[in-house]
Amino acid sequence: MADDKTKRGSPDNKRLNKSEPYEVAYAKAKAEKKSAKKTAKKAAKKAPTRSASARAKPAAGSRARKAPSTSRAKSASPAMKRTNAAPAAKKSRTTTRATPKPPKAEKTAENTAPKTMREADAVDLLTDDHLEVGALFKQYEKLAKKEAPADQRRTLAQTICDMLKAHTTIEEEIFYPAARRAGLDADLLDEADIEHASAKDLIAQIEAGNPDGDHYDAKVKVLGEYITHHVVEEHTEMFPKCRRSTMDLVGLRGEMEARKLSISTDRSEQASGSEAVNDNRGKPTGILASLFSKA
Ligand SMILES: [Fe+2]
Ligand SMILES: [Fe+2]
Repeated sequence: MADDKTKRGSPDNKRLNKSEPYEVAYAKAKAEKKSAKKTAKKAAKKAPTRSASARAKPAAGSRARKAPSTSRAKSASPAMKRTNAAPAAKKSRTTTRATPKPPKAEKTAENTAPKTMREADAVDLLTDDHLEVGALFKQYEKLAKKEAPADQRRTLAQTICDMLKAHTTIEEEIFYPAARRAGLDADLLDEADIEHASAKDLIAQIEAGNPDGDHYDAKVKVLGEYITHHVVEEHTEMFPKCRRSTMDLVGLRGEMEARKLSISTDRSEQASGSEAVNDNRGKPTGILASLFSKA
């Protein structure tokens, strides 16, 4: 116990008169400490929180209001100065307690769905095509960059061409005429027709071209640029006007889907026909076939 009392910082260390009982010395030290605290509190109350000169500064001009009061803030960045500009408002925000909000409901398909639901229409169908073909052009760009084999590039280029041919057909046969009937800007539709014609020229060149030949990749790239330009115009000018018009876009979608299906059926039939022709290549036909079969 005696060792504890002689610990560093204990009242016993401050006991000058060692003959004085420890309890008395302790009580004296405590009383001194208490009175020192009281004096410090009184001094703090009397002292002004801000100097008179500092308070006078804002009154001098409106710009002075934003000036930071401490030397540290003076050297701060503009962003920091902005945060220091309105300390009163900030203080009030932190001290006011907001009304507690009820817990949020778990997100489901029903409560996160847009308030106004609409049926998928012709514009959505065309938009899906645009996105799909855009992704294919990006794939081709990657193939061209890594100098992929000719057959890979040709297959992808042909897929792009087939898709664009079907897309332009449904637009020219169904969508654009319906837009004209609804009184859409004729110049806009004429421009779209011309842009389709340019794209078709390039498509024909790509289909007839050799992937290892000159300008094949360049032609696919330029076709992609044509299409991007055309698609941007459709989305920014034509489609918003169509949506505001009297066009039956939902009905048109059904019509366009049916036409697309017939185009792809024709294409697969043609492909299977050409495969049959290819299988007969090198095999004797006609009179030669009858001669070989006899042999
Ligand atoms: Fe188009
Ligand atoms: Fe289009």
